[in-house]
Amino acid sequence: MPDSQAGTADAASAIFAALDELREQFGGRFALAHSEQALREENAKILGGKGELTAILKGVGAAPAERRKAIGERANLLKQEVEKAFDERLRALAQEKRAADLHARPFDLTLPGRPLAPLGHKHPISIVREEIVDIFQSLGFALHDGPEVELEENNFTKLGFPPDHPATDMQDSFWTTSGHLLRTHTSNVQIRAMSTHRPPMAFIAPGAVYRRDNDVTHSPMFHQVEGFLVDENVTFADLKGVLTEFCQRLYGEGTPVRFRPSYFPFTEPSAEVDIGCVFCKGDAAKQAACAMCKRTGWIEILGSGMIHPVVLEACGIDAEKYTGFAFGIGVERVAFLRYGVPDIRMFFENDPRLLAQF
Ligand code: DAH
Repeated sequence: MPDSQAGTADAASAIFAALDELREQFGGRFALAHSEQALREENAKILGGKGELTAILKGVGAAPAERRKAIGERANLLKQEVEKAFDERLRALAQEKRAADLHARPFDLTLPGRPLAPLGHKHPISIVREEIVDIFQSLGFALHDGPEVELEENNFTKLGFPPDHPATDMQDSFWTTSGHLLRTHTSNVQIRAMSTHRPPMAFIAPGAVYRRDNDVTHSPMFHQVEGFLVDENVTFADLKGVLTEFCQRLYGEGTPVRFRPSYFPFTEPSAEVDIGCVFCKGDAAKQAACAMCKRTGWIEILGSGMIHPVVLEACGIDAEKYTGFAFGIGVERVAFLRYGVPDIRMFFENDPRLLAQF
């Protein structure tokens, strides 16, 4: 069948011609690919399952059997050449990119930085608390911590509160179902510290306290700073000296200070400390109309006293040998006098319009 034989010979020549043509081309096509992706696409067009080489080899069945081996060999050779060229071009592209990166303009370090999001700042209660603590630390008092959920014994009993004292009532304090309570004052730290330390000692204990109160001047959660000092021969004069110095430092040199008799179950004698009203400042005409000091010219700022011997003994301290003084400061009250925030609850509403002002 000369016809069909001629046909198959033609088919074989056509395949060789097509392979030759592809061989001529592929180098130039790879060279035109300027990115890795373009190169991979070009490579797939040639060697991929639906690529040009596969398409050419589809015609191999039409070639005479004795030429098929030669076609296969030529095709394999071409495939190897294409693969080699592809790898080389890939490497060259990577090098080009690296060289371009190295020669690119470096980061401009003179550009201004991006502004950070506003950082916020300390809460006014924290500002005042830290100021109070700083003053006492500079006088030699050390920080002491205590729990906010407390035993009745440390919050009341050992501090000399009789069992029927109104403060121990459900109406006045927050009790847990397990019979503990949220401490109503930081005086619990006195009991804890005096039970675990031996005199001499001088501690300052800031923290949150809780009472069932909620009005313009009372918040159910507020803050106190407790302080106490125990040693041999501590007298009321020491109490006066330390607290007068504290008031001068907090409210300014020359601030009038007075000690007024008072009562606390855990101190004897006890004294409330007043400073000259920071609003009317002793001006008789202003004082006559001053609501802040209720026209007295004085503002109460803390409670204090000589630690009751019964309290010392409850903590295992020999009350014949040692004496001590203690005081408790309301942090919100100090902040109120400093900043004139009209409602104590505003401190805890977390309204940024208020808090941003401090
Ligand atoms: N614990 C008292 C209160 O919450 C404040 C206080 C008064 C503490 C006198 C003291 C003190 O240590 O000596 O009202």
